[in-house]
Formats: sequence, C-alpha cells, structure tokens
Amino acid sequence: MNKLKRIGLLTSGGDAPGMNAAIRAVVLAAHHFDIEVIGFFHGYNGLINDKSRPLTISDVSGIIHRGGTILKSARCPEMKTTNGLIQATTTLLKDKIDALIVIGGDGSFNGLLALNKHWPNPVIGIPGTIDNDLDNTDFTIGFSTAINTAIEAIDKIRDTADAFDRIFIVELMGRHSGHITFNVGVACAAEQVLSFENFDQNNITDEISKLSQAVQQAKTQHHGSYIIVMAENLLPNGANELAIKLKEESKIDCTPCTLGHIQRGGSPVAKDRTLATKMGVAAIQALMSEKTLSMIGEKDNKIVEIPLTDAIQHKKGVSESLIAAQENILALTAQSQC
Ligand code: ADP
Ligand code: F6P
Repeated sequence: MNKLKRIGLLTSGGDAPGMNAAIRAVVLAAHHFDIEVIGFFHGYNGLINDKSRPLTISDVSGIIHRGGTILKSARCPEMKTTNGLIQATTTLLKDKIDALIVIGGDGSFNGLLALNKHWPNPVIGIPGTIDNDLDNTDFTIGFSTAINTAIEAIDKIRDTADAFDRIFIVELMGRHSGHITFNVGVACAAEQVLSFENFDQNNITDEISKLSQAVQQAKTQHHGSYIIVMAENLLPNGANELAIKLKEESKIDCTPCTLGHIQRGGSPVAKDRTLATKMGVAAIQALMSEKTLSMIGEKDNKIVEIPLTDAIQHKKGVSESLIAAQENILALTAQSQC
C-alpha cells in the first residue's frame, strides 16, 4: 500500500511549450490516487523561499494549450550551494512533502540529485526543454513546438530573402546541441546548416573560408536567396559575428537574424501535448510503484523509467541520418550548379 499523501511539483530552467500539459497530467493523475499536489513557484526558488500552494483540478483546467508554465520557471543559482539545498530541504520537511516531481532539463535534474542527498525522498524528473538534448528519451517536451515555430519564421524569412536575392544567417537556440538547428535547417531547405556536429570551433578560420567559398560559388552560379542556419554559441556573438567575418573574408553581404525566445513560446503542438500528458501520468505511476531517482522518457513509442544519474550522463547526439541527409543534399546541390 503506497503511503504518498502530498507531493511537490515545480518547473525549472528554460520553459518549454507543453510544460502546462505536463502539470495538468500530474495534477489529474495524482488526484485520481487521492494525492495532494503542492505547486512550488519560480523553479527551485519556490522551494528555497517556500512559495507554494495546493494545485486543484480547476487550477489545471484550460491550460493544456498554453505555452509557458503556470508555475513560472527560473534559473536558481542558490540551489547550487549547500545553504540553498538546506533551505529547500527545510521547506520540503515543513510542508510535509513525500515526493517531488520536477519538469525541466538536465540542469534541473542535477538539482534533483543534489537535493536528494539532503532529502532522501522519492524524486522524479520529467524532461521539458526545447533543446531535446536529454539522452534516454527520443523527444523532450517542447522540442516539436520550438522547431515548428522556427520553421514558420524561416519560411517567412525565405520570402523576403527571395524578393531581394539576399543571404540570411539565422541563429537558432539549442544551448550547446544542434537538434533544433539541424531539424529546422533540413526542414527549411537551408543552403547551409552550421552546428557543433559539423563545424570545427577550434578551426574557425578554415571553417569561414570554406563557407565563404561555398556561398560565393552558389551566388555566382544562380541568383536567389541563400539561408545559413547556425546554432547559438557556435561563435561568440553568433550570427552577427559570422556576418562580419564573411564580409571581411570575401565582401559577402549577409543579413543576420537571431530568432531568440520566440522559439520558447506559443501554443504546444499536438505531439508536445500528448507526450507531456503521457509523461505526467507516468511520473505519478512511477511514484505509486515506489520508484525514485528516475527520469520518465519515451523511447520507440514506449514510456520508460531511467535512473536519473544515467539519464544525465550523456547528451543525446543529433540523428546521424539527419546530418548525412543535409550533407548529401549540399553535395548534390553543389554538383548540379557546376
Ligand atoms: P535546464 O534544467 O533547462 O537544463 P539549467 O541548466 O539552467 O536549465 O538548470 C536549471 C536549474 O537547476 C538551475 O538554475 C539550478 O537551480 C538547478 N541546478 C542546475 N545544476 C545544479 C547543480 N549541479 N546542483 C544544484 N542545482 C542545480
Ligand atoms: O534551454 C533552453 C534555452 O532556451 C536554450 O536553448 C538557450 O540557450 C537558453 O535556454 C536561454 O536561456 P535564457 O532564457 O535564460 O536566456
């Protein structure tokens, strides 16, 4: 017989479309088992400052289609200190919380592991980040919406780029991984996709000169638009820096455009809503079957529970077939222009 009476729930790190759908699923599934859910606000700050309130069924009605998170999110540097962890533990004990569910990325799961050393109760992570960089789950909540948002934006950029036969450099989010950049680049038929997986950051001069040759060749052989998508953090100052370097290298004029936080907002697409719902329910089921220190993932269309330490050990790489597809398309396009 499971003795869970009251669980804590918070969202942490970069918000992602679908976090609300996950909150809804956790609250509804918990109520089904007569478990009270206490929502903590502003990420781990809510634990440290004891900013919380019970979440009722009516709190989560009408939120499945909303981006952002009703619990708010934040980065909370204090959580990385012993003092912060002790304060968070004090709150959890005072509020008589039996278990904690955190929706966030790998940083947030590191926070859960650190907290669990002081507060050895069951903790479960639900992967919510647009970056899709968590291993042991095919997709993270928010990724599908973020790539659709970026694709819609770049389709619009394509129209104006076509009108002026312009070269654009579009900088995309993803922190230090290229899932967003590669998926969006391929889906938008970007002429160039530059990301950590195919750009040597230790050899920027060579990379820029290779790129400028490719752009010059393409532009001398046919007029039209040319879109380079690049991952943020690839170069200091990103798209602006690349535009300056291409101008210096070979007088190429490019228009830089950083899509930025538009990629984090908006109503979640169906895939994020259903993934979040499955994961939220699975998190409660995991607690009911006395699982602890786990991440809920989905692999090959099946919900899985992964030990939290394994879940954050490696970053998930970008699909090799996607990278190969882009490289083959690039090579074929260059040949057809010769
Ligand atoms: P994400 O969860 O999206 O990867 P961050 O890396 O910013 O985002 O992490 C979110 C929060 O998790 C941090 O602001 C901090 O509060 C907490 N956190 C991250 N790493 C640790 C750690 N090593 N110890 C304790 N808390 C951490
Ligand atoms: O992790 C999600 C993310 O949007 C990353 O893609 C990006 O690098 C980062 O968060 C931006 O964080 P902030 O909103 O704190 O600037």
